[in-house]
Parts: sequence; C-alpha cells; structure tokens
Amino acid sequence: MAKNILHMVTPLAHMSPFDVNMALDAGYDAAVPYTNVSLGEVTGLVQDAMFSRSPRDATRTGFFIAGKDAFLALDMLDAASKALLKPFEISLFADPAGSFTTAAAMIAVVEKTLKEMKGRGLAGAAVSIFGATGVVGTAAGVIGALEGANVTFVGHDGTQRVARHAEEVKRRFGVDIAVADGSTAEKKAAIVASTEIALCAAKAGVRVLDASQIASGERLLVAADVNAVPPLGVEGLDLHANGTPLGGRGALGVGALAIGNVKYRTEAGLFREMAASASPLKLDFRQAFVLARSFAL
Ligand SMILES: NC(=O)c1ccc[n+]([C@@H]2O[C@H](COP(=O)([O-])OP(=O)(O)OC[C@H]3O[C@@H](n4cnc5c(N)ncnc54)[C@H](OP(=O)(O)O)[C@@H]3O)[C@@H](O)[C@H]2O)c1
Repeated sequence: MAKNILHMVTPLAHMSPFDVNMALDAGYDAAVPYTNVSLGEVTGLVQDAMFSRSPRDATRTGFFIAGKDAFLALDMLDAASKALLKPFEISLFADPAGSFTTAAAMIAVVEKTLKEMKGRGLAGAAVSIFGATGVVGTAAGVIGALEGANVTFVGHDGTQRVARHAEEVKRRFGVDIAVADGSTAEKKAAIVASTEIALCAAKAGVRVLDASQIASGERLLVAADVNAVPPLGVEGLDLHANGTPLGGRGALGVGALAIGNVKYRTEAGLFREMAASASPLKLDFRQAFVLARSFAL
C-alpha cells in the first residue's frame, strides 16, 4: 500500500512540532514541513503533491495548513481546495496554531456545561470573547455565532481593532458580531455584568478577569479560559475545572486543561480521519466542532 504522506505548510519560519507529533502519532508515515509559504505558493504545492501519485493513492496524501492567522489559513485552505482536480483530489486540514481545534473544544465543553448544568443551549446566549483578535478567539467567535449565540468581541485596547475584525468575520461568514471596550477594569466588569458566557482566549500568561469582575457577573452562567500559563486568564478558575462553581453567584468554570483534553482528542481524531479516509476531506473549525462535541459529551 502507498505510504500515507502529510505535507505541512506554514507561512511562519517553523512548522509546529506539536502538529508534527500529532500527525505522526495519528498514523501518517511521513510529515514533511514547508515553511515561509505564501498564499500564492499554495496552488503549486498542492498540485505538485497531487500529480505525483496515482488517483488510487490520492487520499493517502494530505495537506495541512498551520500558521498564526485564522483568515490567512482559511484563504490557504480555499486556494488548496481550488487547486484540486479530479480524480487526484487529496485531503486538506487547516488548524493554525492549533486554534481551530482549541476553539472547537472550548465551545463544545461550554455547550455541554450549559446543557447539563443550566438546561440551556448556545442559541441566543450572550457570549463575550476576550482575546478575540487572536486565532483561538476568532474561531471561537465564529463557531459560537454560527450556533446562534449573540457574540461580542471585547477589545483590550478599545473597539477599533475588534470592530475591523468583526467586519471581516461578517464578510466571510455572514454573522453579526457586536464589539465592546474592555480597556479598563471597570469596563470589563460592566461587560461581565451583561454576559452569560465569558470566553477568555487572551495571550498566554495574561490575567483577563479578576475575582471582582467575575463577582459582577449577575447573569454569568459559564466562564471558560484556554490560557494554561500563570497567571491564568480568570482568577479563581482551576486549570482542571469542568463545570466547577466559580465566584459564588451560580456561575460555572471551565479551565484550560479540561478544554485541552478535548482539543487534543479532536486534533488527533481529525488527523486519524484524514489518514484513513477513502474519500478526500476538507477540514476546518466546523468539522473540528462536530468532532469536539462528540468528545465533550
Ligand atoms: N488549552 C489549549 O488546548 C490551548 C491550545 C492552543 C492555545 N491555547 C491558548 O489560547 C490562548 C490564545 O491563543 P492564540 O494563539 O489565539 O493567541 P494569540 O494569537 O497570541 O492571541 C491572543 C489574544 O490576546 C490578546 N491580548 C494580548 N494582550 C492582552 C491583554 N493584556 N489583555 C487582553 N487580551 C490581550 C491579543 O490581542 P492583540 O490583538 O493586541 O494581539 C489577542 O487577541 C493562549 O493563551 C494560548 O496559550 C490553549
């Protein structure tokens, strides 16, 4: 049988060792990194990988897109998809900085917590995202909005940059995202006071919400954090919290390791699906969310 080969491209100087390990552990025979790749180079790379193998072995060739920019990764995925020609179609998977699988896991665990412990779903819920311009925050916002939540992007330096980001999300996915100014402690407290779900996806080692801001959350149902580097994003939220009471007003906490566990299984699962599939797959945060939901149950 032909070897299972994964071509891994990134616009950055290095391919993530995390993703290389995940791919090989999931069953690929070889994982080959291509670094400093531009959007314009994707078509040529895909077709070069595709035409070297018989159509019978096409699906044993995979193309993975990394990096640190959600929109660029989606553009690369689109370019790769458009470069495919029957009957040579190969499988494609975008997960820049692990963000699509992390965001999928975050929303899936929050959804499970909401359903099981609050009898609620995501649809109509007021969701505020801190760290929304990052890759994880962006993908979490899009998944949440596509599930019918009322999503707000919170800017740590005012609303200007998050508003531009929300416009780009609207252009690409047709969903409306509100914006809020989270540049001071008082403004963050006011945002939490009107929020049902607070998602913290800020830079590693940044404390986003302190105990007093959590205490101001009179409507707060769930607060989740993906930052595992001290200080954690939410004061008082344990890394392992998985629907654990937080702040004494009925809110529940979901910590970075509870999310990380589902994220890990989701990324590994998508690599396994891609390596074993008899038909070509195209995977981004939407397919990641479907799989993450099955692990969060
Ligand atoms: N648990 C897991 O499985 C897992 C997996 C992957 C990543 N992570 C974690 O997820 C988090 C987000 O990752 P990422 O790759 O999306 O990070 P990122 O691209 O660096 O984005 C971080 C976000 O934090 C914002 N930020 C920077 N300084 C801030 C501050 N002082 N206050 C509030 N927000 C601030 C950034 O805003 P600017 O626009 O100003 O840059 C950006 O929106 C990180 O903590 C990372 O370690 C967790």
